[in-house]
Amino acid sequence: MKKDPRLTGQSALVTGANSGIGKGVALALGNEGANVAVNYVSRPDDAQAVVDEIKANGGNAIALAADVSNEAQVQEMFRKMIEAFGTIDILINNAGLQKDSSFQDMSLADWQLVLNVNLTGQFLCAREAVREFLRRGIVPERSKAAGKIICMSSVHEVIPWGGHVNYATSKGGVMMLMKSMAQELAPKKIRVNSIGPGAIQTPINKAAWDTPQALESLLTLIPYQRIGQPEDIGNLAAWLCSDEADYITGTTIFMDGGMTLYPGFSTNG
Ligand code: BGC
Repeated sequence: MKKDPRLTGQSALVTGANSGIGKGVALALGNEGANVAVNYVSRPDDAQAVVDEIKANGGNAIALAADVSNEAQVQEMFRKMIEAFGTIDILINNAGLQKDSSFQDMSLADWQLVLNVNLTGQFLCAREAVREFLRRGIVPERSKAAGKIICMSSVHEVIPWGGHVNYATSKGGVMMLMKSMAQELAPKKIRVNSIGPGAIQTPINKAAWDTPQALESLLTLIPYQRIGQPEDIGNLAAWLCSDEADYITGTTIFMDGGMTLYPGFSTNG
């Protein structure tokens, strides 16, 4: 754990935390002294490994199974989280997936799966978190806010993405979900923000970085000339849900090495 942890005594739920960005965020929050609930839907061993790593670092964590797109499972997960830690202070709405195909071949099932997990899943988890934030209110020793939600969005909330129309649509939806919640809930001292990662080296985009040729092509989209790491996002998430960021609500912070800067225009146009 860090020497001056910023989230001591707070409890955080990170959805989809057994791999990729979710894992990076769970480890970072554990390092800041938060109790961390590591949600997963498959591969329980991977979730347990994240729990073990947080504990080995001097933190406190549990693993909780739930499909975020299933209302009953989400409610049961929150019940268990509150039973274990007493409450929830931070929700990291991270669970998400891709089911890519050309538009004309996109099945209704793949459209719905992506919207259900990436968008409805964020709604269901946020609603449960907000209910608990409102019930409990502000605890000044822990945080200035009554609760914090970070929605894991993507550069594709603003960059259209052919071949991934279901995914980009879900992230566009996450943007308005986040902003509308932020507007409604700010008077209750609940902060809601998004992180918009660019290309982060995780299993979801393995095909984009696992050969030198793929990586070279990916880097043409990244002015900063490196692929991001889960720790990059973890560091940002830890700060964004700390009181150092208390005046930030309703914003997407892009962390993308400049991917949203229209890199094609640096030598063209
Ligand atoms: C996607 C990745 C992609 C990145 C940048 C993310 O939201 O999940 O597959 O590499 O955006 O395009």
